[in-house]
Amino acid sequence: MKEKMPKITVAIDGPAASGKSTVAGILAERLGYLYFDTGVMYRAVTWAALARGIPIEDERAITRLAEELRIEVLPPTVDDGRQYTVLADGQDITWKIREAQVNRYVSPVSAYKGVRRALTLQQRRIGAPGGVIMVGRDIGTVVLPEAQVKIYLDASLEERTRRRYLEYRQRGILRPFREVKEELVQRDRIDSTREMAPLRPAEDAVIVDSTCVPIDKVVRRIERVIRQALEQVVGG
Ligand code: DC
Repeated sequence: MKEKMPKITVAIDGPAASGKSTVAGILAERLGYLYFDTGVMYRAVTWAALARGIPIEDERAITRLAEELRIEVLPPTVDDGRQYTVLADGQDITWKIREAQVNRYVSPVSAYKGVRRALTLQQRRIGAPGGVIMVGRDIGTVVLPEAQVKIYLDASLEERTRRRYLEYRQRGILRPFREVKEELVQRDRIDSTREMAPLRPAEDAVIVDSTCVPIDKVVRRIERVIRQALEQVVGG
């Protein structure tokens, strides 16, 4: 059944902690699609810059790093709750890219044009064959503007803060609620006001608000949109 259906491209964008990765992971599994979270690439560059002592303000050095760093995203290699394994030049950095320092600097790093150019190129290559659910901020607008399905997943700031706060707690990190909220406000501000590829819904995106909506309902709603698009491809 899965094999007979044509494979389309699905773009899911939205602000931090709007539930994109959870929803995309479930949908990809159900449809037999590749799930690719582009945020991981910006996080890998940020982590490598911090690890190598490259100042975050040094745009040229960080751009060079983005061009040279070998980022690989593989199926989980360790059974520790990860959705995938991330390697940077062969080193497993799956959890390191979720640390507070990376959260703090990833938005300024991803605002650099050269960094975006280098990573967008790789993301397009991954999306080109289809059968992929790609998640990020600019997938429907810039990376894969031809995607047959574009979803903009949103949720209120309060709800997103609650989710991120609980995520931290699950990993044994206790952070004040208001600090987590402030971090999200800052990231959203930089991500949506940067000059190149800012966060915004594509004109043809379906906007889904997940505030107070259980995750399975959000998944079902998006799955319906994908199935409709598949029927169109088959029928047309
Ligand atoms: O989805 P995330 O929180 O892992 O993303 C981390 C940062 O990477 C986010 O604050 C902005 C940047 N990003 C981006 O600019 N474009 C993307 N397609 C994905 C992420």
